[in-house]
Amino acid sequence: MVEIPGNLFPRKLDRHLPMAKTAHGIFIEDENKKQYMDASGGAVVVNAGHGREKIAKAIYDQILSHDYIHPTMFTTRPVEMLAASLARKAPGDINRFYLLSGGSEANEAAIKLARQIHIENGNETKYRLIGRWKSYHGLTLGSLAAMGRTSFKTSFVPLLKECLHIPAPYCYRCSFGLKYPSCKSRCALALDEMIVNSGPETISAFIAETIPGATIAACIPPKEYLKIIAEICHHHNVLLILDEVMCGMGRTGEWFACNHFDVIPDIVTLGKGLGGGVIALSALGVKEPHFNAVKDNSGSFMHGGTFSHHPVAAAGGLALIEILEQEKLIQRVKTEGEKLGNLLKKHLLPLPQVGDIRGKGFLWGVEIVKDKKTKRPFQRSLKIVEGIWKDLFERGYIVYTSTGLAGANGDALVIAPPFIINDDEMEMLVNAIKSTFLDFFKEDG
Ligand SMILES: Cc1ncc(COP(=O)(O)O)c(C=O)c1O
Repeated sequence: MVEIPGNLFPRKLDRHLPMAKTAHGIFIEDENKKQYMDASGGAVVVNAGHGREKIAKAIYDQILSHDYIHPTMFTTRPVEMLAASLARKAPGDINRFYLLSGGSEANEAAIKLARQIHIENGNETKYRLIGRWKSYHGLTLGSLAAMGRTSFKTSFVPLLKECLHIPAPYCYRCSFGLKYPSCKSRCALALDEMIVNSGPETISAFIAETIPGATIAACIPPKEYLKIIAEICHHHNVLLILDEVMCGMGRTGEWFACNHFDVIPDIVTLGKGLGGGVIALSALGVKEPHFNAVKDNSGSFMHGGTFSHHPVAAAGGLALIEILEQEKLIQRVKTEGEKLGNLLKKHLLPLPQVGDIRGKGFLWGVEIVKDKKTKRPFQRSLKIVEGIWKDLFERGYIVYTSTGLAGANGDALVIAPPFIINDDEMEMLVNAIKSTFLDFFKEDG
Protein backbone atom coordinates (compact mmCIF):
# COMPACT_ATOMS: atom_id res chain seq x y z
CA MET A 1 0.00 0.00 0.00
CA VAL A 2 1.25 3.52 -0.82
CA GLU A 3 2.63 5.46 2.17
CA ILE A 4 0.57 8.51 3.13
CA PRO A 5 2.89 11.50 2.50
CA GLY A 6 1.08 13.78 5.02
CA ASN A 7 0.53 16.93 2.96
CA LEU A 8 -3.17 17.18 3.66
CA PHE A 9 -4.40 19.99 5.89
CA PRO A 10 -6.93 17.86 7.81
CA ARG A 11 -10.23 19.05 9.27
CA LYS A 12 -9.12 17.75 12.69
CA LEU A 13 -5.55 18.24 13.80
CA ASP A 14 -5.91 16.75 17.28
CA ARG A 15 -6.55 13.15 16.33
CA HIS A 16 -5.38 10.33 14.14
CA LEU A 17 -8.17 9.47 11.75
CA PRO A 18 -8.79 5.92 10.52
CA MET A 19 -8.61 5.46 6.74
CA ALA A 20 -12.07 4.80 5.30
CA LYS A 21 -12.14 2.08 2.68
CA THR A 22 -15.74 1.32 1.73
CA ALA A 23 -19.18 2.74 2.43
CA HIS A 24 -22.38 0.85 1.64
CA GLY A 25 -25.89 1.34 2.94
CA ILE A 26 -25.57 2.69 6.46
CA PHE A 27 -22.10 1.25 7.11
CA ILE A 28 -18.57 2.55 6.58
CA GLU A 29 -15.59 0.19 6.79
CA ASP A 30 -12.01 1.29 7.45
CA GLU A 31 -8.79 -0.23 6.17
CA ASN A 32 -8.57 -2.44 9.26
CA LYS A 33 -11.96 -3.91 8.37
CA LYS A 34 -13.63 -2.23 11.31
CA GLN A 35 -17.28 -1.40 10.62
CA TYR A 36 -19.06 1.75 11.71
CA MET A 37 -22.79 2.39 11.60
CA ASP A 38 -23.16 5.86 10.06
CA ALA A 39 -26.01 6.95 12.31
CA SER A 40 -25.69 10.62 11.40
CA GLY A 41 -25.08 10.26 7.66
CA GLY A 42 -21.82 12.13 8.30
CA ALA A 43 -22.90 15.71 9.00
CA VAL A 44 -26.61 14.87 8.51
CA VAL A 45 -26.11 14.48 4.77
CA VAL A 46 -26.46 10.87 3.61
CA ASN A 47 -30.15 10.12 3.20
CA ALA A 48 -30.53 7.27 0.69
CA GLY A 49 -27.53 5.38 2.07
CA HIS A 50 -23.97 5.10 0.83
CA GLY A 51 -22.89 3.62 -2.49
CA ARG A 52 -26.03 4.02 -4.58
CA GLU A 53 -25.37 2.59 -8.05
CA LYS A 54 -28.18 4.56 -9.68
CA ILE A 55 -26.61 7.87 -8.63
CA ALA A 56 -23.15 6.72 -9.70
CA LYS A 57 -24.52 5.74 -13.10
CA ALA A 58 -26.38 9.06 -13.54
CA ILE A 59 -23.21 11.01 -12.73
CA TYR A 60 -21.10 8.78 -15.00
CA ASP A 61 -23.52 9.15 -17.90
CA GLN A 62 -23.72 12.91 -17.38
CA ILE A 63 -19.94 13.29 -17.45
CA LEU A 64 -19.74 11.36 -20.71
CA SER A 65 -22.65 13.30 -22.19
CA HIS A 66 -21.69 16.85 -21.16
CA ASP A 67 -19.77 17.62 -18.01
CA TYR A 68 -18.82 21.22 -17.20
CA ILE A 69 -20.91 23.74 -19.07
CA HIS A 70 -20.73 27.35 -18.02
CA PRO A 71 -24.17 28.43 -16.80
CA THR A 72 -24.07 31.88 -18.41
CA MET A 73 -23.37 30.31 -21.82
CA PHE A 74 -25.76 27.34 -21.92
CA THR A 75 -28.50 25.79 -19.89
CA THR A 76 -28.59 22.01 -19.47
CA ARG A 77 -31.36 19.44 -19.01
CA PRO A 78 -30.28 18.17 -15.57
CA VAL A 79 -30.30 21.67 -14.01
CA GLU A 80 -33.65 22.52 -15.62
CA MET A 81 -35.19 19.22 -14.49
CA LEU A 82 -33.82 19.44 -10.96
CA ALA A 83 -35.23 22.97 -10.58
CA ALA A 84 -38.58 21.74 -11.90
CA SER A 85 -38.60 18.81 -9.50
CA LEU A 86 -37.85 21.08 -6.54
CA ALA A 87 -40.51 23.57 -7.64
CA ARG A 88 -43.12 20.76 -7.69
CA LYS A 89 -42.23 19.86 -4.11
CA ALA A 90 -41.84 23.39 -2.76
CA PRO A 91 -44.75 25.13 -1.06
CA GLY A 92 -46.73 27.95 -2.68
CA ASP A 93 -45.09 29.99 -5.39
CA ILE A 94 -41.47 29.09 -4.64
CA ASN A 95 -40.91 28.30 -8.29
CA ARG A 96 -37.35 29.36 -9.08
CA PHE A 97 -34.21 27.55 -7.93
CA TYR A 98 -30.63 28.74 -8.13
CA LEU A 99 -28.16 25.83 -7.86
CA LEU A 100 -24.90 26.08 -5.92
CA SER A 101 -22.54 23.71 -4.19
CA GLY A 102 -22.67 24.13 -0.39
CA GLY A 103 -25.04 25.17 2.37
CA SER A 104 -23.05 28.22 3.48
CA GLU A 105 -22.88 29.36 -0.12
CA ALA A 106 -26.66 29.01 -0.51
CA ASN A 107 -27.21 31.14 2.60
CA GLU A 108 -24.73 33.77 1.38
CA ALA A 109 -26.65 33.93 -1.89
CA ALA A 110 -29.99 34.14 -0.06
CA ILE A 111 -28.81 37.09 2.05
CA LYS A 112 -27.63 38.89 -1.10
CA LEU A 113 -30.77 38.06 -3.04
CA ALA A 114 -32.99 39.48 -0.28
CA ARG A 115 -31.06 42.74 -0.44
CA GLN A 116 -31.28 42.82 -4.23
CA ILE A 117 -35.04 42.17 -4.19
CA HIS A 118 -35.49 45.24 -1.98
CA ILE A 119 -33.39 47.35 -4.33
CA GLU A 120 -35.40 46.14 -7.33
CA ASN A 121 -38.56 47.23 -5.52
CA GLY A 122 -37.17 50.65 -4.69
CA ASN A 123 -36.50 49.94 -1.00
CA GLU A 124 -32.80 50.77 -1.01
CA THR A 125 -32.56 51.49 2.70
CA LYS A 126 -33.28 47.87 3.58
CA TYR A 127 -29.98 46.05 4.06
CA ARG A 128 -29.74 44.73 7.62
CA LEU A 129 -30.14 41.11 8.56
CA ILE A 130 -31.68 39.57 11.67
CA GLY A 131 -30.83 36.03 12.72
CA ARG A 132 -31.26 34.01 15.90
CA TRP A 133 -28.94 33.12 18.72
CA LYS A 134 -27.89 29.45 18.76
CA SER A 135 -28.41 29.14 15.02
CA TYR A 136 -26.09 27.58 12.45
CA HIS A 137 -25.92 28.87 8.88
CA GLY A 138 -22.38 27.96 7.80
CA LEU A 139 -18.82 29.12 8.18
CA THR A 140 -18.21 31.51 5.28
CA LEU A 141 -18.15 35.15 6.38
CA GLY A 142 -21.74 36.13 5.55
CA SER A 143 -23.25 32.93 6.91
CA LEU A 144 -21.01 33.13 9.95
CA ALA A 145 -22.24 36.66 10.63
CA ALA A 146 -25.83 35.41 10.44
CA MET A 147 -25.05 32.46 12.69
CA GLY A 148 -25.72 32.70 16.39
CA ARG A 149 -23.34 30.07 17.71
CA THR A 150 -20.89 32.24 19.57
CA SER A 151 -17.92 29.87 19.86
CA PHE A 152 -17.61 29.60 16.07
CA LYS A 153 -17.61 33.37 15.65
CA THR A 154 -15.54 34.85 18.43
CA SER A 155 -12.16 34.82 16.66
CA PHE A 156 -13.58 36.26 13.48
CA VAL A 157 -15.84 39.01 14.82
CA PRO A 158 -13.61 41.81 13.42
CA LEU A 159 -14.16 40.38 9.93
CA LEU A 160 -17.93 40.07 10.13
CA LYS A 161 -20.71 42.37 8.99
CA GLU A 162 -23.31 43.34 11.55
CA CYS A 163 -26.18 40.94 12.05
CA LEU A 164 -28.84 41.41 14.75
CA HIS A 165 -29.98 38.38 16.74
CA ILE A 166 -33.12 37.38 18.62
CA PRO A 167 -33.58 34.38 20.96
CA ALA A 168 -34.29 30.96 19.46
CA PRO A 169 -37.54 29.04 20.05
CA TYR A 170 -35.80 26.75 22.49
CA CYS A 171 -38.46 25.79 25.03
CA TYR A 172 -36.14 23.55 27.07
CA ARG A 173 -34.06 26.63 27.92
CA CYS A 174 -36.45 29.51 27.26
CA SER A 175 -34.54 32.80 27.08
CA PHE A 176 -37.48 34.53 28.77
CA GLY A 177 -37.84 31.94 31.54
CA LEU A 178 -41.39 31.20 30.33
CA LYS A 179 -43.32 27.99 29.66
CA TYR A 180 -45.15 27.02 26.50
CA PRO A 181 -48.03 27.72 25.79
CA SER A 182 -48.57 30.36 28.48
CA CYS A 183 -45.51 32.19 27.03
CA LYS A 184 -47.76 33.28 24.13
CA SER A 185 -44.81 32.85 21.75
CA ARG A 186 -42.73 35.57 23.39
CA CYS A 187 -39.67 34.47 21.38
CA ALA A 188 -41.51 35.04 18.08
CA LEU A 189 -42.73 38.46 19.23
CA ALA A 190 -39.08 39.35 19.93
CA LEU A 191 -38.69 39.66 16.16
CA ASP A 192 -41.28 42.42 15.99
CA GLU A 193 -39.55 44.20 18.84
CA MET A 194 -36.17 43.92 17.16
CA ILE A 195 -37.47 45.19 13.81
CA VAL A 196 -39.34 48.11 15.37
CA ASN A 197 -36.40 49.13 17.57
CA SER A 198 -33.88 48.82 14.73
CA GLY A 199 -35.98 50.71 12.20
CA PRO A 200 -38.13 48.57 9.85
CA GLU A 201 -36.96 50.66 6.91
CA THR A 202 -33.42 49.29 7.45
CA ILE A 203 -34.23 45.58 7.80
CA SER A 204 -33.87 43.41 4.71
CA ALA A 205 -34.42 39.87 5.96
CA PHE A 206 -34.81 37.48 8.86
CA ILE A 207 -32.96 34.17 8.54
CA ALA A 208 -33.75 31.07 10.60
CA GLU A 209 -33.45 27.31 10.39
CA THR A 210 -36.98 25.93 10.01
CA ILE A 211 -36.00 23.19 12.46
CA PRO A 212 -32.74 24.10 14.21
CA GLY A 213 -30.15 21.35 13.89
CA ALA A 214 -26.46 21.82 14.43
CA THR A 215 -26.58 24.01 17.56
CA ILE A 216 -29.73 23.25 19.55
CA ALA A 217 -30.04 19.72 18.22
CA ALA A 218 -33.38 19.18 16.53
CA CYS A 219 -35.40 21.44 18.77
CA ILE A 220 -38.85 21.63 17.16
CA PRO A 221 -40.43 25.11 17.37
CA PRO A 222 -43.99 25.33 18.72
CA LYS A 223 -46.47 24.89 15.88
CA GLU A 224 -47.57 28.54 15.65
CA TYR A 225 -44.06 30.01 16.00
CA LEU A 226 -43.18 30.27 12.31
CA LYS A 227 -46.64 31.52 11.35
CA ILE A 228 -46.21 34.43 13.77
CA ILE A 229 -42.69 35.05 12.45
CA ALA A 230 -43.97 35.05 8.84
CA GLU A 231 -46.73 37.53 9.73
CA ILE A 232 -44.28 39.87 11.45
CA CYS A 233 -41.95 39.72 8.44
CA HIS A 234 -44.81 40.38 6.06
CA HIS A 235 -46.04 43.30 8.14
CA HIS A 236 -42.64 45.04 8.05
CA ASN A 237 -41.72 44.05 4.48
CA VAL A 238 -38.86 41.96 5.82
CA LEU A 239 -38.08 38.90 3.72
CA LEU A 240 -38.21 35.52 5.47
CA ILE A 241 -35.28 33.23 4.63
CA LEU A 242 -35.73 29.69 5.92
CA ASP A 243 -32.54 27.65 6.06
CA GLU A 244 -33.43 24.02 5.35
CA VAL A 245 -29.89 22.92 4.59
CA MET A 246 -30.10 20.32 7.37
CA CYS A 247 -33.82 19.77 7.95
CA GLY A 248 -35.00 19.83 4.31
CA MET A 249 -35.13 17.21 1.56
CA GLY A 250 -37.15 14.75 3.60
CA ARG A 251 -34.94 14.60 6.68
CA THR A 252 -37.88 15.55 8.95
CA GLY A 253 -40.57 13.76 6.92
CA GLU A 254 -41.46 16.51 4.43
CA TRP A 255 -39.53 17.56 1.33
CA PHE A 256 -39.61 21.09 2.75
CA ALA A 257 -39.67 21.29 6.54
CA CYS A 258 -41.74 24.51 6.42
CA ASN A 259 -44.64 22.30 5.25
CA HIS A 260 -44.86 21.00 8.83
CA PHE A 261 -45.82 24.52 9.88
CA ASP A 262 -47.82 25.68 6.87
CA VAL A 263 -45.48 28.57 6.22
CA ILE A 264 -44.11 29.75 2.88
CA PRO A 265 -40.83 31.67 3.17
CA ASP A 266 -39.71 34.25 0.62
CA ILE A 267 -36.45 32.35 0.12
CA VAL A 268 -35.55 28.82 1.19
CA THR A 269 -32.10 27.23 1.16
CA LEU A 270 -31.21 23.56 0.69
CA GLY A 271 -27.91 21.66 0.82
CA LYS A 272 -26.65 18.49 2.49
CA GLY A 273 -29.44 16.00 1.61
CA LEU A 274 -29.98 17.61 -1.81
CA GLY A 275 -26.87 15.80 -3.01
CA GLY A 276 -27.20 13.07 -0.38
CA GLY A 277 -23.49 13.24 0.36
CA VAL A 278 -22.64 11.92 -3.08
CA ILE A 279 -22.02 15.27 -4.68
CA ALA A 280 -21.62 18.90 -3.59
CA LEU A 281 -24.99 20.46 -4.33
CA SER A 282 -27.08 23.18 -2.73
CA ALA A 283 -29.83 25.52 -3.84
CA LEU A 284 -31.89 28.51 -3.00
CA GLY A 285 -35.54 28.66 -3.92
CA VAL A 286 -37.40 31.95 -4.25
CA LYS A 287 -41.00 33.02 -4.76
CA GLU A 288 -41.96 33.82 -8.31
CA PRO A 289 -42.84 37.54 -7.71
CA HIS A 290 -39.38 38.14 -6.20
CA PHE A 291 -37.75 36.40 -9.15
CA ASN A 292 -39.83 38.60 -11.48
CA ALA A 293 -38.73 41.73 -9.61
CA VAL A 294 -35.12 40.83 -10.43
CA LYS A 295 -35.90 39.77 -14.00
CA ASP A 296 -38.00 42.84 -14.82
CA ASN A 297 -35.66 45.41 -13.27
CA SER A 298 -31.91 44.84 -13.23
CA GLY A 299 -32.29 41.65 -15.27
CA SER A 300 -29.96 39.40 -13.31
CA PHE A 301 -29.05 38.38 -9.80
CA MET A 302 -25.63 39.91 -9.08
CA HIS A 303 -24.21 36.56 -8.06
CA GLY A 304 -22.70 33.51 -9.67
CA GLY A 305 -19.88 31.07 -9.21
CA THR A 306 -17.82 28.87 -11.47
CA PHE A 307 -19.56 25.76 -10.19
CA SER A 308 -23.13 27.03 -9.94
CA HIS A 309 -25.81 25.23 -12.00
CA HIS A 310 -23.49 22.27 -12.52
CA PRO A 311 -25.07 19.59 -14.72
CA VAL A 312 -23.12 16.72 -13.16
CA ALA A 313 -24.16 17.69 -9.63
CA ALA A 314 -27.74 18.20 -10.81
CA ALA A 315 -27.79 14.77 -12.48
CA GLY A 316 -26.69 13.25 -9.16
CA GLY A 317 -29.38 15.21 -7.29
CA LEU A 318 -32.08 14.12 -9.74
CA ALA A 319 -31.09 10.44 -9.44
CA LEU A 320 -31.19 10.75 -5.66
CA ILE A 321 -34.69 12.28 -5.74
CA GLU A 322 -35.81 9.42 -7.98
CA ILE A 323 -34.57 6.92 -5.38
CA LEU A 324 -36.26 8.78 -2.53
CA GLU A 325 -39.52 8.79 -4.53
CA GLN A 326 -39.40 5.24 -5.92
CA GLU A 327 -38.51 3.68 -2.57
CA LYS A 328 -40.99 5.94 -0.74
CA LEU A 329 -38.24 6.91 1.66
CA ILE A 330 -39.79 10.18 2.82
CA GLN A 331 -42.89 8.30 4.01
CA ARG A 332 -40.49 5.90 5.73
CA VAL A 333 -38.84 8.82 7.53
CA LYS A 334 -42.21 9.67 9.09
CA THR A 335 -43.05 6.20 10.40
CA GLU A 336 -39.59 4.85 11.18
CA GLY A 337 -38.43 8.23 12.50
CA GLU A 338 -41.17 8.16 15.10
CA LYS A 339 -40.04 4.65 16.10
CA LEU A 340 -36.47 5.88 16.48
CA GLY A 341 -37.65 8.80 18.62
CA ASN A 342 -39.69 6.47 20.84
CA LEU A 343 -36.72 4.13 21.28
CA LEU A 344 -34.42 6.99 22.17
CA LYS A 345 -36.90 8.34 24.71
CA LYS A 346 -37.59 4.91 26.22
CA HIS A 347 -33.95 3.92 26.71
CA LEU A 348 -32.11 7.20 27.17
CA LEU A 349 -34.49 9.60 28.87
CA PRO A 350 -34.33 7.68 32.21
CA LEU A 351 -30.54 8.24 32.32
CA PRO A 352 -29.55 10.94 34.86
CA GLN A 353 -27.46 12.83 32.30
CA VAL A 354 -30.12 12.99 29.56
CA GLY A 355 -32.11 16.18 30.04
CA ASP A 356 -34.22 16.21 26.91
CA ILE A 357 -34.89 14.25 23.72
CA ARG A 358 -36.63 15.98 20.83
CA GLY A 359 -36.84 15.75 17.08
CA LYS A 360 -38.83 14.82 14.02
CA GLY A 361 -38.39 12.21 11.30
CA PHE A 362 -34.78 11.12 11.23
CA LEU A 363 -33.40 14.19 13.03
CA TRP A 364 -33.17 13.71 16.80
CA GLY A 365 -31.32 15.53 19.55
CA VAL A 366 -30.25 14.11 22.90
CA GLU A 367 -29.35 16.92 25.30
CA ILE A 368 -26.80 16.05 27.97
CA VAL A 369 -26.94 17.79 31.37
CA LYS A 370 -25.05 17.64 34.63
CA ASP A 371 -28.19 18.15 36.68
CA LYS A 372 -31.49 17.05 35.25
CA LYS A 373 -33.62 19.03 37.72
CA THR A 374 -31.96 22.40 37.18
CA LYS A 375 -30.91 21.63 33.55
CA ARG A 376 -27.42 22.75 34.52
CA PRO A 377 -25.03 21.86 31.68
CA PHE A 378 -21.53 20.46 32.03
CA GLN A 379 -18.68 22.95 31.73
CA ARG A 380 -17.58 23.07 28.11
CA SER A 381 -13.95 22.58 29.16
CA LEU A 382 -14.86 18.99 30.14
CA LYS A 383 -15.69 18.23 26.50
CA ILE A 384 -18.37 15.77 27.56
CA VAL A 385 -20.02 15.27 24.20
CA GLU A 386 -16.66 14.86 22.49
CA GLY A 387 -15.83 12.08 24.99
CA ILE A 388 -19.13 10.30 24.42
CA TRP A 389 -18.74 10.69 20.69
CA LYS A 390 -15.26 9.15 20.79
CA ASP A 391 -16.42 6.17 22.87
CA LEU A 392 -19.32 5.57 20.50
CA PHE A 393 -17.00 5.83 17.50
CA GLU A 394 -14.68 3.25 19.04
CA ARG A 395 -17.67 0.95 19.46
CA GLY A 396 -18.42 1.44 15.75
CA TYR A 397 -21.26 3.98 15.84
CA ILE A 398 -21.12 7.42 14.26
CA VAL A 399 -23.36 10.22 15.51
CA TYR A 400 -23.10 14.01 15.29
CA THR A 401 -22.42 16.43 18.10
CA SER A 402 -23.73 19.79 19.08
CA THR A 403 -22.37 22.29 21.60
CA GLY A 404 -23.16 25.81 22.82
CA LEU A 405 -26.75 25.08 23.81
CA ALA A 406 -26.40 27.06 27.04
CA GLY A 407 -24.12 30.02 26.40
CA ALA A 408 -20.62 28.67 25.88
CA ASN A 409 -21.65 25.42 27.61
CA GLY A 410 -24.07 22.68 26.68
CA ASP A 411 -23.71 19.33 24.93
CA ALA A 412 -25.98 17.26 22.72
CA LEU A 413 -25.85 14.32 20.36
CA VAL A 414 -27.60 14.51 17.02
CA ILE A 415 -28.91 11.21 15.67
CA ALA A 416 -29.74 11.38 11.97
CA PRO A 417 -29.34 8.05 10.17
CA PRO A 418 -29.86 7.43 6.46
CA PHE A 419 -33.54 6.86 5.70
CA ILE A 420 -32.98 3.13 5.07
CA ILE A 421 -32.01 2.15 8.65
CA ASN A 422 -34.07 -0.87 9.79
CA ASP A 423 -35.65 -1.77 13.13
CA ASP A 424 -32.80 -4.05 14.29
CA GLU A 425 -30.22 -1.42 13.44
CA MET A 426 -32.17 1.23 15.36
CA GLU A 427 -32.27 -1.08 18.41
CA MET A 428 -28.52 -1.73 18.11
CA LEU A 429 -27.83 1.98 17.85
CA VAL A 430 -29.92 3.00 20.84
CA ASN A 431 -28.47 0.16 22.95
CA ALA A 432 -24.95 1.25 22.00
CA ILE A 433 -25.67 4.86 22.99
CA LYS A 434 -27.14 3.71 26.30
CA SER A 435 -24.16 1.46 27.14
CA THR A 436 -21.79 4.25 26.18
CA PHE A 437 -23.52 6.70 28.54
CA LEU A 438 -23.50 4.14 31.37
CA ASP A 439 -19.78 3.36 30.92
CA PHE A 440 -18.75 6.96 30.27
CA PHE A 441 -20.37 8.41 33.36
CA LYS A 442 -19.30 5.42 35.51
CA GLU A 443 -15.68 6.12 34.53
CA ASP A 444 -16.29 9.82 35.00
CA GLY A 445 -17.30 9.11 38.60
C1 LIG B 1 -28.78 24.68 8.90
C2 LIG B 1 -27.45 24.74 8.21
N1 LIG B 1 -27.20 25.70 7.33
C3 LIG B 1 -26.03 25.80 6.68
C4 LIG B 1 -25.03 24.87 6.90
C5 LIG B 1 -23.72 25.01 6.17
O1 LIG B 1 -23.65 24.09 5.14
P1 LIG B 1 -22.23 23.73 4.50
O2 LIG B 1 -21.43 23.11 5.59
O3 LIG B 1 -22.57 22.80 3.37
O4 LIG B 1 -21.64 24.99 4.01
C6 LIG B 1 -25.24 23.83 7.80
C7 LIG B 1 -24.19 22.87 8.08
O5 LIG B 1 -24.21 22.13 9.04
C8 LIG B 1 -26.48 23.77 8.48
O6 LIG B 1 -26.73 22.81 9.39
